[in-house]
Amino acid sequence: MAPKTNGIGVQVEDMRICVVMVGLPARGKSYIAQKAQRYLKWLSIPAKTFNVGNYRRNDAPQPSADFFDTNNAEGERKRRAAAEAAVADMLQWFKSGEGVVAILDATNSTKERRKWVLDKVKSEGIEVIFVESKCDEEELIMANIRDVKTTSPDYKGQDPEKAALDFRDRIRNYEKVYKSINEDGDEDDLTYLKIMNVGKQVIINRIRDYLQSRIVYYLMNLHIRPRSVWLSRHGESMLNIEGRIGGDAGLSHRGEEYARKLPDLVLESVGSDRPLTVWTSTLKRTIATARHLPKHYNQLQWKALDELDAGVCDGMTYQEIADMYPEDFQARDEDKYNYRYRGGESYRDVVIRLEPIIMELERSEDILIISHQAVIRCIYAYFMQKTQEESPWVPVPLHTLMKLTPRAYGTEVQTFKANIKAVSTWRGKGSTAKHEDPSPEGGV
Ligand code: ADP
Ligand code: F6P
Ligand code: PEP
Repeated sequence: MAPKTNGIGVQVEDMRICVVMVGLPARGKSYIAQKAQRYLKWLSIPAKTFNVGNYRRNDAPQPSADFFDTNNAEGERKRRAAAEAAVADMLQWFKSGEGVVAILDATNSTKERRKWVLDKVKSEGIEVIFVESKCDEEELIMANIRDVKTTSPDYKGQDPEKAALDFRDRIRNYEKVYKSINEDGDEDDLTYLKIMNVGKQVIINRIRDYLQSRIVYYLMNLHIRPRSVWLSRHGESMLNIEGRIGGDAGLSHRGEEYARKLPDLVLESVGSDRPLTVWTSTLKRTIATARHLPKHYNQLQWKALDELDAGVCDGMTYQEIADMYPEDFQARDEDKYNYRYRGGESYRDVVIRLEPIIMELERSEDILIISHQAVIRCIYAYFMQKTQEESPWVPVPLHTLMKLTPRAYGTEVQTFKANIKAVSTWRGKGSTAKHEDPSPEGGV
């Protein structure tokens, strides 16, 4: 059997990593954990987060700050039990054979706790990376408390002002015992990434293999400055009108009209004259769609943004494919994500080549991407956590601009229609229709 590989071409058999979060409360640990999980799952690497707070809530649903005082014996006992339960479930997940990367989301703020986790996890032959978020920017911490902590189940039904004050007292209790990783110089053997003040400075220690270094590289590029990512397909092309896939056609009249309208649509959705960076594919139809955008927008062409390569089917209609390659046509409908066109690509292949795009997107601020149906589905799937079953079927209509804005947990989507008619290139399972309307359910 061929070895199992995933989005970054890594053989995942026998590879098991536990990412252990470290840091005081309200330092973005859950945020980082959630992003790492989403990135790995998008790359087909089984990843799961085990949040100790969720386990603790079973026993202590709404504790006040003094619960987290280390002199509170009852609090200590319950917190210890929660950590044990989370680690036990995590090890069980690895034992079941399902798990590749687990993320232990807790404060792990003392050397003793880190040693305990390390010993338990390592004894099962699982690699451990500690990821610490350290932050001393008071304003940011207060903003984090207001944004996510006052709405946490820990404070459900409570006054947000009081909740914020209590949370600050909770942090003070943690501060009494907190040790940053290797602060005393005796944790130098640990594999760790320390992110200080949201990446202003990072320390990387003893990172070993490829998957570890991909995770570390991804995490050190995250930022939390407000920004959006805009996605648009090219304007309607001559081949779209004929219902033919692939190719490198120019725009139709209506596609041209969209290209001319795009600057206004972008301006309306940006809401200011903030400059954008525009990424297109290397194909004529996306470059033509971008050409009326303001000259002061930086533009970049990426081969990685070219449409899914349909191989021998390039330039055919779905009906022609069904007639010439009936088995392939059916196989694609059965598993559209994994089906690879003869001499071409699958959605899985497209995700692999989009990995550098996602990495660059995470590092960047406002970006407008003008690309193609399948490619935009894959990027959309990353932001919206669509499964492999769903993502290849997501309707992405022509002449529509999508604005994705990352929030603390999740991504907000807005769509802006140009109101310029275009054919539909969405195709339902089993259909060979040239132009079909997307299903009412799902969609962007
Ligand atoms: P924790 O899990 O450490 O208690 P959360 O993840 O719940 O904290 O906090 C989420 C908030 O932290 C979000 O508003 C997010 O913008 C912010 N955040 C994300 N990354 C960082 C970071 N590296 N340092 C500080 N704050 C961050
Ligand atoms: O029809 C437009 C198009 O971008 C084709 O070039 C491409 O093969 C197709 O959409 C991808 O959509 P699907 O995976 O649904 O066939
Ligand atoms: C919690 O109880 O919310 C929590 C994160 O636990 P700990 O600090 O013990 O990891």
